[in-house]
Amino acid sequence: MKDQLEKIKNLAESAIQDAKSMQDLEQIRVKYLGKKGELTLVLRGMKDLSNEERPLIGKIANEVREEIENSLQNAIEVVKQNEKNIRLQKETIDVTMPGRKCKLGHKHPLTKVLDEIKDIFIGMGFKIAEGPEVETVYHNFDALNAPKNHPSRDMSDTFYITEDILLRTQTSPVQIRTMKKQTPPIKIISPGRCFRFDELDATHSPMFHQVEGLVIDRGITMADLKGTLDLFAKQLFGSETKTKFRPHHFPFTEPSAEVDVTCFKCEGEGCKVCKGSGWIEILGAGMVHPNVLKECGIDPEEYSGFAFGMGLDRVTMLKYGIEDIRLLFENDMRFIEQF
Ligand code: DAH
Repeated sequence: MKDQLEKIKNLAESAIQDAKSMQDLEQIRVKYLGKKGELTLVLRGMKDLSNEERPLIGKIANEVREEIENSLQNAIEVVKQNEKNIRLQKETIDVTMPGRKCKLGHKHPLTKVLDEIKDIFIGMGFKIAEGPEVETVYHNFDALNAPKNHPSRDMSDTFYITEDILLRTQTSPVQIRTMKKQTPPIKIISPGRCFRFDELDATHSPMFHQVEGLVIDRGITMADLKGTLDLFAKQLFGSETKTKFRPHHFPFTEPSAEVDVTCFKCEGEGCKVCKGSGWIEILGAGMVHPNVLKECGIDPEEYSGFAFGMGLDRVTMLKYGIEDIRLLFENDMRFIEQF
């Protein structure tokens, strides 16, 4: 039995020496020390030994178990250390390698011009308001005094979702939402997306941007409108800029005007940008129609106000000399990176 124990010890030791992984070592442990392991089987046979032999063999068996356990433990440490070394080697970072270039983005030209416009109006005490792009026909047309037979309401001009809901064709419905929510004095601009059933070409896009403006208070006159827009134009296009108000018609303003600015390129001489006229149209404006005020619960006898709506895409194109509106929406980095 002593020889048997010696043999088990030697076999186990050499198996441990050959083991390469934790898995191998676990298998060895089960094979020799486990419940059905070889050493255990030998110990079971001890009951057949004589009383003199039993303690002797018992002692040797314990020594063998201890030795195998120790060897196993040592081998586990070695395997662990090896595995760690391999991992460390794999994860080595070469700090001398040149770094990967981080591409820094920047603002889209539309956002840049909008930021400038916001800054100018915030400087004059305006707040920024927002409204939904999916609007009710009521807010987009009816409350803005647009009669049922107005051509802009036509199915072929407007994206209807249902009979009562559409993609807003203008930012003017934000006027209605603001006047219904707030009491005067009101002084807001509202930038946002608008949608019209337009064929895409160099100057038209079915999706475009406007910046709406609204001021309501006691004693607001056309002079306030002119002064505000004149100051705005000078700040955005340069201090030499002049403004011109041409009579026009909008259902929600009376009187209404289209506003031109002197061409910032030729300063009024006439050039390609202004098509020789010296003037460029940038927005529609007017005094808020009494019907619109009444619809929003504001007494037109007590309050008056002005409104305007500007094409942000057009202003951006003019400011940067961009000739095709499609460039603004195609996200071609070769174009965007130029700003
Ligand atoms: N909503 C008009 C349009 O899309 C622009 C406009 C004109 C807005 C006059 C106004 C305004 O607020 O007073 O053509």
